[in-house]
Amino acid sequence: MTLIEKIERLKKEKNAVILAHYYQTPEIQDVADYVGDSLGLSQKAAETSADVIVFAGVHFMAETAKILSPDKIVVLPDLNAGCSLADSCPPEAFKKFIEKHPDHTVVTYVNCSAEIKAMTDIVCTSSNALKIIESIPEDQPIIFAPDRNLGKYIMKQTGREMLLWDGSCIVHEAFSIDKLLELYKQYPQATIIAHPESEEHILKTAAYIGSTAGMINYVKVHPEEQFIVATEVGILHKMQQEVPNATLIPAPAEDDNTCACSECAFMKVNTLQKLHDCLLNESPQIGVPNNIREKALVPIQRMLELSK
Ligand code: 13P
Ligand code: SF4
Repeated sequence: MTLIEKIERLKKEKNAVILAHYYQTPEIQDVADYVGDSLGLSQKAAETSADVIVFAGVHFMAETAKILSPDKIVVLPDLNAGCSLADSCPPEAFKKFIEKHPDHTVVTYVNCSAEIKAMTDIVCTSSNALKIIESIPEDQPIIFAPDRNLGKYIMKQTGREMLLWDGSCIVHEAFSIDKLLELYKQYPQATIIAHPESEEHILKTAAYIGSTAGMINYVKVHPEEQFIVATEVGILHKMQQEVPNATLIPAPAEDDNTCACSECAFMKVNTLQKLHDCLLNESPQIGVPNNIREKALVPIQRMLELSK
């Protein structure tokens, strides 16, 4: 039996579902029941009737699934699948920050820990961030955390001032504007599309800015064209399947002279073998203490309600 056949058999035996993010390796995406962006994945986690959720993504995503589906077993192929952005917002420091501004509504990007979500009024993802901010009365001051690049982008789009936490994603901060412009000279017909975790100078060059699912939907409208894609390189797998005739070029990172691509090392610690093993052993499991889970659920549910 191949590894994939073993995974398929275990899935049936255990009534399990495999949810994968677009940044996972192609072989993991291909074995998944659903591949999506952070919003789509949390919606699936909330509605699944499976007994076991195998979360092929990073820790905060699996944690969100556990908060939404506490009675289900949620497993992550490798507990080292963290996130630099989530790590850039430690709970103690964030608590002090929000205590200094008690009149502010706290909006957090889903890329943060359950402890941070438990201190939050509304969670958002990159696909609904503008809608979430616009749902808050205009005269209400807002704290936005942890991603300063997404925060700046929202401020520019909505005209709203927000107090930003100074966090960022190491992958999206690594894109080089000089190398991007050089690449653009080689492909002058190409359209640049970017994820809003990228820095402002990269976003300025982009014809479209959106979540991973948003970027895929955008290229589907122009299936014959050339695109320079500024986000984690794993997205190219699903994107190319959706638009086989498009030319997809990964945006270059600063210190990358070999493959001209940007990989998230956290996402890539998951492998097909580890996915198989976590399903077989039902370990490592994600757990969230009840007092934190109950508080963190409220802002996630607000987001899901506003995203319908
Ligand atoms: P989305 O898939 O929601 O756009 O998020 C990208 C990301 O960085 C996930 O870690
Ligand atoms: Fe975190 Fe960035 Fe990796 Fe996404 S790409 S999981 S934000 S480090």
